[in-house]
Amino acid sequence: MEVVIVQDAQAGGELIAEGIADLLRRKPDALLGVATGSTPLPIYDALTAKVRSGAVDVSRARIAQLDEYVGLPAGHPESYRSTVLRQVVEPLGLDADAFMGPDGSAEDVQAACEAYDRALAEAGGVDLQILGIGTDGHIGFNEPCSSLASRTRIKTLTEQTRIDNARFFEGDIDQVPHHVITQGIGTILEARHLVLLATGEGKAEAVAQTVEGPVAALVPASALQLHPHATVVVDEAAASRLKLADYFRHTYANKPAWQGL
Ligand code: F6R
Repeated sequence: MEVVIVQDAQAGGELIAEGIADLLRRKPDALLGVATGSTPLPIYDALTAKVRSGAVDVSRARIAQLDEYVGLPAGHPESYRSTVLRQVVEPLGLDADAFMGPDGSAEDVQAACEAYDRALAEAGGVDLQILGIGTDGHIGFNEPCSSLASRTRIKTLTEQTRIDNARFFEGDIDQVPHHVITQGIGTILEARHLVLLATGEGKAEAVAQTVEGPVAALVPASALQLHPHATVVVDEAAASRLKLADYFRHTYANKPAWQGL
């Protein structure tokens, strides 16, 4: 695992956006897996700025959603489909048909999950998957004790995650759905490159357990240790509980090994 410690969220966003731009220069039709939430916004802003300045052409890029709430009405502004369209697809100037995601309003949720896994495989697999991390160590919405081999499926959110996400629903936890569809950990591990961004003190414990703790279902993000190409980008606050912070600074600070690969 490569652990790149950056000054702040903006620097993390810029670094990852440059990695994505580099990928798209080599593979213009790359399939990018995108997370939602607050953390990846600096990535999407930096990538959009690169597109507008002509530094990278994303016109053939494809976008895949990581997870989705179950039960929100179609077009709800906080559905992850609406969120990804608003924060990624539209700013990058992509067509909606460049974007794929699970159907959170399907009557047969299990069939929708299986269809999404098949669609990802038929699309050639995710080239670079952007991940955030929950304060409880989740990736996607694979809450603690998710199977490390899991496929896309329906999950129940923990109370902690619903509290964390209430800010997107007028601060009202009762509006936060209980259920989600999420790519499974096994599905996520099939992406060719995993890039997790974590910022802020609130993520420090989850980051330390992910990077330096044992691989454990209790900390789903620790499954990144099983991936041959996983990069964890953290700001100083999120890195504050890493025992090996100095080693990571020395090894990856100015020359992250993943750039240009
Ligand atoms: C959402 C997702 C989640 C978030 C995580 C952190 O698509 O994948 O795992 O990344 O809940 O959310 P923020 O970034 O809002 O702290």
